[in-house]
Amino acid sequence: MSTSTAPQVAASGSGTGTARPRVLSGIQPTADSFHFGNYLGALRQWVDLQENYEPFFFIADQHAITVEQDPKVLRDRCLRAAAQLIAAGVDPERSAIFMQSHVPAHAQLSWVLQCLTGFGEARRMTQFKDKSAKGGEGAASVGLFTYPILMSSDILLYRPHYVPVGEDQRQHLELTRDLAQRFNHRYKKTFRLPEPYILKATAKITDLQEPTAKMSKSASSANGIIDMLDDPKVSAKKIRSAVTDSGSEVRFDTAEKPGVSNLLTIYSALTGTSIEELVGQYDGKGYGDFKKDLAEVVVEFVTPFRNRTLELLDDKETLNDVLASGAAKASAVAERTLADVYDRVGFVKPVSR
Ligand code: AMP
Ligand code: TRP
Repeated sequence: MSTSTAPQVAASGSGTGTARPRVLSGIQPTADSFHFGNYLGALRQWVDLQENYEPFFFIADQHAITVEQDPKVLRDRCLRAAAQLIAAGVDPERSAIFMQSHVPAHAQLSWVLQCLTGFGEARRMTQFKDKSAKGGEGAASVGLFTYPILMSSDILLYRPHYVPVGEDQRQHLELTRDLAQRFNHRYKKTFRLPEPYILKATAKITDLQEPTAKMSKSASSANGIIDMLDDPKVSAKKIRSAVTDSGSEVRFDTAEKPGVSNLLTIYSALTGTSIEELVGQYDGKGYGDFKKDLAEVVVEFVTPFRNRTLELLDDKETLNDVLASGAAKASAVAERTLADVYDRVGFVKPVSR
């Protein structure tokens, strides 16, 4: 399976009746705020892909409960996630934005696919190994174990061409393709084999304090993560105190200078200036100037994002409308696929009287 760096698709003119290729992705509502890794590794691609694709983007609330959640906190985080997607530029007019649990076909297809998945195959998923390692496998839920199969269902229902995700999801995409192929082979061609869409440049944003580790909400220190909804002043401080490497030269070298390279990646992604150009710009200047400037770039970026998110959270009616119309668009597609699947596995079609 290849890494798709930039699928080039000619925009189909409106009114031509040509269907645009689909993209689909989901994100878990497991923190009060998305962090820079989520934004640069995933959400930004969602925003860009809307241009030329037919997009389906959802909040993976059912995935979130694979580990224990406080119901009140979860509900709040789901809405915060939806608001952040919109604030980041996912446009409800162009993209179906919805809650996974609002489209029951996800859980329904998941059962069918579970029955096609080998136990050993599920056991090989490295994310399960990582996530269950802490409390021991015996303490992990069966839901955590079967989570990649629910993810496969999320994807296959929409028959998407591309699935934009971070590098850590590649193995789940491979499982998805295997299950699609198995179903198609055993029954009848039903599913499209989706391609992962992983942007190499931002596939792994690293921790500001521990620049060889992935930026992650489970980081040991909050100073290593930039939350999109943090007070911008706090984010600026985190950038200024990010761990840089020995020497003083601003240079992109992930082996020798992982800290500086990560900051260069972030700088380049936020401004659109190439890393090469940035390196030229800071030639002869030290880390201090570089981090000070990046801190300003970050503040300029997160301030309007944060304001827009808070505005949306104050207007629940609009947010609920977006989610309702997203779920309606998604259900129309998902239910059609599920009906094909139920028919092909041999279930009797219910007759309404
Ligand atoms: P998570 O919060 O782990 O569910 O991740 C949500 C999305 O963000 C997924 O597509 C991840 O692959 C992506 N992602 C998470 N952390 C990072 C990171 N540090 N760098 C790049 N992408 C990331
Ligand atoms: N598992 C993904 C994550 O943790 C989220 C996710 C759930 C997803 N279902 C998906 C991503 C379907 C892409 C497609 O980041």
